[in-house]
Amino acid sequence: MSDVSRPSPTEARPGSPAGPRTAVVIPAAGRGVRLGPGAPKALRALNGTPMLIHAVRAMAASRAVSLVVVVAPPDGAAEVKSLLDAHALPERTDFLVVPGGESRQESVKLGLDALPPDYDIVLVHDAARPLVPVDTVDAVIEAVRDGASAVVPALPLADTVKEVEPAAVTGEPEPVVATPQRARLRAVQTPQGFDRATLMRAHETVTGDVTDDAGMVERLGLTVVAVPGHEEAFKVTRPLDLVLAEAVLARRRLNDGF
Ligand code: C5P
Repeated sequence: MSDVSRPSPTEARPGSPAGPRTAVVIPAAGRGVRLGPGAPKALRALNGTPMLIHAVRAMAASRAVSLVVVVAPPDGAAEVKSLLDAHALPERTDFLVVPGGESRQESVKLGLDALPPDYDIVLVHDAARPLVPVDTVDAVIEAVRDGASAVVPALPLADTVKEVEPAAVTGEPEPVVATPQRARLRAVQTPQGFDRATLMRAHETVTGDVTDDAGMVERLGLTVVAVPGHEEAFKVTRPLDLVLAEAVLARRRLNDGF
């Protein structure tokens, strides 16, 4: 394909095709209620292209990634398959589509269950983070190749964070119970990278309320490491995020001519 930014063949990238094979699972089965009414979030357009296609291209831009498994809305697998067929994607990457589940955790597990045996490194990437740069993807893969069981891209926080006693009724004042030291906090993004066996074990044994995959590995008592994230890897959650995402794409088009 022509419109994905790729390293030149001579450029030494951490994510070279040699070494353990890497697959990416993209959970894209969420409704995206906070974005307002409309199609499932991953299928909404950013500058005319579905968010999911941007996310798939962002993963396939890494030369280390040879398979992308898209977890589609439960009743939308056929639609997602035709979307992938209709958009230009790198030929060196294989694509699979499986139907997702009720929760993000369930959707990721369904994606993992569809992985062929010969992949030792697995990344999990939210379709809702369509603009993550390839250098962030490669940095995560490199840290797993260097021996980490679980890797998260993370950024320092701009805001001070308070822990509160949540009010029973939205909008009521909430007592603050703690103020963690901001310098020790990080906002965690995706793709998160894993040694495949560790992630499988986490998904087979950890239950309960989790918001990311690395959190499940932590519950196994294993170490998770953070590498620098990127401000363009933000999650598209609310209507204003769509405006920001389109502004980032417009700036890229201006700078890179893609
Ligand atoms: O809900 P949230 O925006 O945090 O979702 C993060 C990612 O998980 C999104 O890409 C969404 O499509 C996906 N998801 C899923 N299956 C669900 C719920 C969310 O694949 N049941």
